[in-house]
Amino acid sequence: MAGKYHAKISGTGRYLPEKVLNNFDLEKIVETNDEWIRSRTGMFERRIAADDQASSDMAYEAALKAISAANLKTKDIDLIIVGTVTPDHAFPSTACLVQKKLGLKNFPAFDVSAGCPGWIYASNIAKQYIENGVAKNALVIGVELLSKVLNYKDRNTCVLFGDGAGATVISRAEPKDISRLIDSDISADGTFSELLVQPAGGSRMPATRDTVENSKHTVHMEGNKVFKLAVKSMYSACDAVMKRNNLDVKSIDWLLTHQANMRIIEALGKKLKIDKNKVIVNIEKYANTSSATIPIALDEAIRDGKVRRGDLVLMASFGAGLTSGSLLIRV
Ligand code: ACO
Repeated sequence: MAGKYHAKISGTGRYLPEKVLNNFDLEKIVETNDEWIRSRTGMFERRIAADDQASSDMAYEAALKAISAANLKTKDIDLIIVGTVTPDHAFPSTACLVQKKLGLKNFPAFDVSAGCPGWIYASNIAKQYIENGVAKNALVIGVELLSKVLNYKDRNTCVLFGDGAGATVISRAEPKDISRLIDSDISADGTFSELLVQPAGGSRMPATRDTVENSKHTVHMEGNKVFKLAVKSMYSACDAVMKRNNLDVKSIDWLLTHQANMRIIEALGKKLKIDKNKVIVNIEKYANTSSATIPIALDEAIRDGKVRRGDLVLMASFGAGLTSGSLLIRV
């Protein structure tokens, strides 16, 4: 605890667009096949947002569910942080758009650009606001609409990602609550920033006819280099919080990692020496929704009754930056 109070997750929610794109659909779009995608990634389906949907629309739907699950009214929210790399606009922030949709104003609302650990970074920040007593109920969202920034001619990237939103309310815990955000460790290594990048659309390479014609506004990734760093960085983040809290891996009830590749999830589980049955996976249904993977999977696991009150959940993620982070909670 960094301040006067403890923080806890008081509610979760998720939103997945209706449209499903499965591996067989992708076979018709790009030179790939179901067998390759399944065996190399563990993915089968992913959701694709409608043309008229933007990230704030999905975030808003997930937020309503999280606020209701927390038994709160929208007016109880006093901080909004959105982790996203696919905001509606470069500015204003998606958090401000969600605030407006909720009919709220006059408190801090901002986005965090931290790649896939966006929701973990945002939770780490919200934890400090709650512990210091500056906020009481923070809405923390991971949302991505990656299908609009993918190049469906590039099989190295387009099969891997999907759209969706996961929301959580992080609230001040009462002294009697067992639920807690126990600890979090976030880090970055900018020397690897070129491995995963959307080159155009910012001040380095503003939009021109050439950038559009050459698909420079889409995701560019050196997949196998990212793969190697993923396991290492998530392991370090998990190890840091386990050591700080004198925890043995046996006391962890659930490991919930970023859903980027089944082989990465398995390799991390093996390195941590955690029982396979304790690893939460939904990658076959939604693929990689970047900052939304963990809050979506957490909400699903809680609503399905898999993760229960009192369980100790260790979460970890990595992504563009390269960034990494972990979050340890008692549900
Ligand atoms: N279908 C069929 N073949 C393909 C496909 C595809 N969709 N994609 C690549 N291949 C081919 C390649 O062209 C290559 O063929 P070649 O040997 O003839 O050259 C072969 O498959 C192997 O390619 P690799 O890149 O070596 O395959 P790898 O086993 O590393 O898997 C993958 C690629 C899935 C991208 C993996 O490296 C990975 O998951 N990396 C991590 C990526 C990641 O997690 N990114 C998310 C970061 S989070 C964020 O911030 C957004």
